[in-house]
Amino acid sequence: MPAKSNSVKNKKIIIANWKMNPSSSKEAEALFKTLLKNLDRTKASVVICPPSIYLERLYKISKKIPLGLQNIYFGGEGASTGEISGNMAKNSGAKFVILGHSERRAMGEDSDTISKKIKTALYVGLTPILCIGEKIRDESHEHFSVIKAQLEGALAGVTKSYVPEIIIAYEPVWAIGNQAMREARPEEFREVAIFIKKTLSDKFGIDSAGKVKIIYGGSVHPKNVSSFITDGGVEGFLVGRDSLNAKKFIEIINLTDSLS
Ligand code: PGA
Repeated sequence: MPAKSNSVKNKKIIIANWKMNPSSSKEAEALFKTLLKNLDRTKASVVICPPSIYLERLYKISKKIPLGLQNIYFGGEGASTGEISGNMAKNSGAKFVILGHSERRAMGEDSDTISKKIKTALYVGLTPILCIGEKIRDESHEHFSVIKAQLEGALAGVTKSYVPEIIIAYEPVWAIGNQAMREARPEEFREVAIFIKKTLSDKFGIDSAGKVKIIYGGSVHPKNVSSFITDGGVEGFLVGRDSLNAKKFIEIINLTDSLS
């Protein structure tokens, strides 16, 4: 696999997951332009992941904010109705791709498919943002085995030299979106991040594992970013709802910068 890197290694990274929003390219452009005006000198790396249909349009407006998709297909171009290949994503301006998001897992995407997509992304030079996270937490601490299985499944067959290219987003499903049961605590992130590093280290060695960026996602908003940085030690955020609100998203970035 050819080595490619989007050089975000030493910075915090803040990724906007616009999900299936907004409903028109006009609104997407307006939001993107507002962000462009306000994010000229950020210390953190900011990445916008719009719906694929808007990506090239945004790429043509400006190349200052790197873009990503929210999914790709695992095979090359051909007879796969409705899908978008890694090369298409790359050639349209994407540098990143969110893979394994819980909303896609809920649609039936399994570890085997996610693993193929991770390898496709690495092959074409897209940085995969691999989402992992348990659906529930209980006293038996089952979530550790869920996270381990998701990691091992998604990274099956990935060569260890490529592991540092992958960003891992820990997104406990119970803390995501309007239906969140509660917010995650920074300490909970810290504990899982250590577990992720240990799992990666056992499989790929400490050198590769040590270079992997682990970020947090799930109801990130301006009021909790600071504690996730200071108490949770996060290396970045994957932001859903609040990435659609320019004021809040800019605030999240500014707060992150002020603590970096
Ligand atoms: P949320 O979504 O910030 O709206 O909870 C995060 C995500 O699903 O990536």
